[in-house]
Amino acid sequence: MKILAIESSCDEFAAAIVEDGRFVLSEVVNSQIDIHKIYGGVVPEVAARSHLETALAVVDECLQGFAWDDIDAIAVTAHPGLIGSLMIGTLVARTLALLKKKPLYAVDHIEGHIYATFLADRADYLPDFSPHLFRSYEERSASDSLCDSIASLPPDSGLMTSQEMSRRHRERLQKTPQFPFLALVVSGGHTQIMLFRDHNDYEIIGKTRDDAVGEAFDKVAKILGLPYPGGPSIAKSAERGNSNAYNLPKPKVDGLDFSFSGLKTAVLRAVQREVGVDHTFPSASLSERLTASQRDNFAAVFQKTAVEILVDKIAEATRKYEAKSIVLAGGVAANQELRRALAEVFAVECSSEHPYEFLSIPPMQWCTDNAVMIGARAYFLTKENPPINPRELEIFPTK
Ligand code: KG4
Ligand code: ZN
Repeated sequence: MKILAIESSCDEFAAAIVEDGRFVLSEVVNSQIDIHKIYGGVVPEVAARSHLETALAVVDECLQGFAWDDIDAIAVTAHPGLIGSLMIGTLVARTLALLKKKPLYAVDHIEGHIYATFLADRADYLPDFSPHLFRSYEERSASDSLCDSIASLPPDSGLMTSQEMSRRHRERLQKTPQFPFLALVVSGGHTQIMLFRDHNDYEIIGKTRDDAVGEAFDKVAKILGLPYPGGPSIAKSAERGNSNAYNLPKPKVDGLDFSFSGLKTAVLRAVQREVGVDHTFPSASLSERLTASQRDNFAAVFQKTAVEILVDKIAEATRKYEAKSIVLAGGVAANQELRRALAEVFAVECSSEHPYEFLSIPPMQWCTDNAVMIGARAYFLTKENPPINPRELEIFPTK
């Protein structure tokens, strides 16, 4: 089954064609990062206007090489997200569904992030993977045996031998997260742990009581004078910093809930102390007083603390709930330090008598917003749910 998926909930307008929830046949993402960088964050009205300008071009580009007869269904993100942004994507999807008489599925953005881990992962074994790689059927069948193309990579092409790559490739193609699984969702708007018993049976077992972790990355980046989006800029700055240079308190939150606003304030106070001003000093002017190495150290300390908070909670969740897989999802899943720390913790846990079969993290390009994950999620919705009437599709910005 081939699904045309559309994602527009924030500042990316993306379209993709995904087959059977696993294989990406085509993908186009238009990111507005360069526009929002100027303002230091996403401006909702600007995001919606930009979606309006690019939506049709993105969908058109995505469909190049495909006929409408190839498409079995259309899926679109309907919640949560910025209201104006959601309106543009859903309007495009509803119109196409009506005109082309295709079944329409409304997808939850957070569920989408999690289902990025159900996709066959090409980035791991094809170092030069690009979203356009499998644009058409012809190209896909030309390299249908991915193992062949892997085997033909030069032996010094990177990280692994071609044999090792094809072994990993086969494993990945066969494996998807096993139920029940625990998902740690870490994005700009959400931080939560979910227990999935089946595709349509899950509960949120812990969530942030204030800021999302991505939001904390973005806010701390502002304090440190690092560009938007804060996550990647902090990660880059942290590479040069000393993560033991300062001490930041970790919040004590009962159960599996999180809190990140205290950590952000702790960074603010520590920076004020470091540069010798009191708590009334405006945070917008603080970064001018920081040296490059102080800034890098704060980035490293903040990142380490945020990662520890996340890892501690998911580890606690695995002790409380029986799960076969652990899934990491959302924009902050692109953070290398978090990926490394989780791999370390769960490698240790897996070596003992542990029920987890594996830790699943999407490839980098499918951690942040994209339409591929919406197509993957929609495939599993089509199995158990009727399509939605395009005239009745509702959007829920905060649901
Ligand atoms: O999932 P996403 O693209 O959008 C939402 O649904 O929110 O996540 C965006 C968030 C931003 O807060 C961004 O700073 C963060 O993900 N992010 C990162 C990294 N890349 C993106 N945070 C930490 N490290 C990264 N490498
Ligand atoms: Zn997202």
